[in-house]
Amino acid sequence: MQQPLENNIDQEQLAEAVDVVHEEFGELCETAIILGSGLGVLAEQLKNAHFLATKDIPGYPPSTVAGHRGRWVVGELEGEKILAVQGRIHGYEGHAATVLAFPVHILASCGIKNLVMTNAAGAINRFYAPGHFMAIDDQINLTFANPLIGKNDEGLGPRFPDMSAPYDRSLSRKLVHIGTRLGIKMHRGIYVGVRGPSYESAAEIRMFERIGADAVGMSTVVEVIAAVQRGMRVIGISCISNMATGIANQPLSHDEVTEAAEKVKDDFLLLITKLVHEI
Ligand code: HPA
Repeated sequence: MQQPLENNIDQEQLAEAVDVVHEEFGELCETAIILGSGLGVLAEQLKNAHFLATKDIPGYPPSTVAGHRGRWVVGELEGEKILAVQGRIHGYEGHAATVLAFPVHILASCGIKNLVMTNAAGAINRFYAPGHFMAIDDQINLTFANPLIGKNDEGLGPRFPDMSAPYDRSLSRKLVHIGTRLGIKMHRGIYVGVRGPSYESAAEIRMFERIGADAVGMSTVVEVIAAVQRGMRVIGISCISNMATGIANQPLSHDEVTEAAEKVKDDFLLLITKLVHEI
């Protein structure tokens, strides 16, 4: 006989995790930001900061990537309260999509309404360059995984969530205006999410270009599917760290990606600080 299907999210563990977060932070704000590779600097800028190590959150998957510190930080950016998730976990570490989505479920169950997803990405669009930012308009999930597979709990959200507008269009427009006013080079485009960890071949990048992608990265898409199911307002920001394979004629390295993020951190901080005032 077939085994009964398991819920894609363990409700008991989720409830425990939510309790721990509430115990640590008390009343939460409405906006959270998940920080991508090399973008953890934002968490260090928060004033009156409180910290919670992700290893102290029940069921939280451990991060194994250098440059990804596992902690949640609540603090203020120019007076605006925000929760920053530092040390995102990735599919290439071996986590299943449901596991990748667990932090998003905790955030949603803690009452977070607005989710700012950030990542470092390689540019497929030839008009982009390292140091530019892309407001994510839409996504292509090429991880071949989905965090909602398994038995659905209708209490969390619909079985078949609508994905016609995963990213909030008006916030995305706002982000571009804010950046442009600050003199930051901004784009709006399509993010294709892959599983990694190898970078793409040049042939794969040519395929991504043909299917309409502007930037490529190894995160975000799976978490955003869960966030949409939970009814969160999502804004996505890609920090272009390199030209994707074959677009510029040079090999890629992870150091290049983290160094590029380091170089644009002032722009990134400015952008997010202004953005959180407008959400
Ligand atoms: N490919 C995939 N992921 C990435 C890249 C890339 O070129 N740059 C930063 N993250």
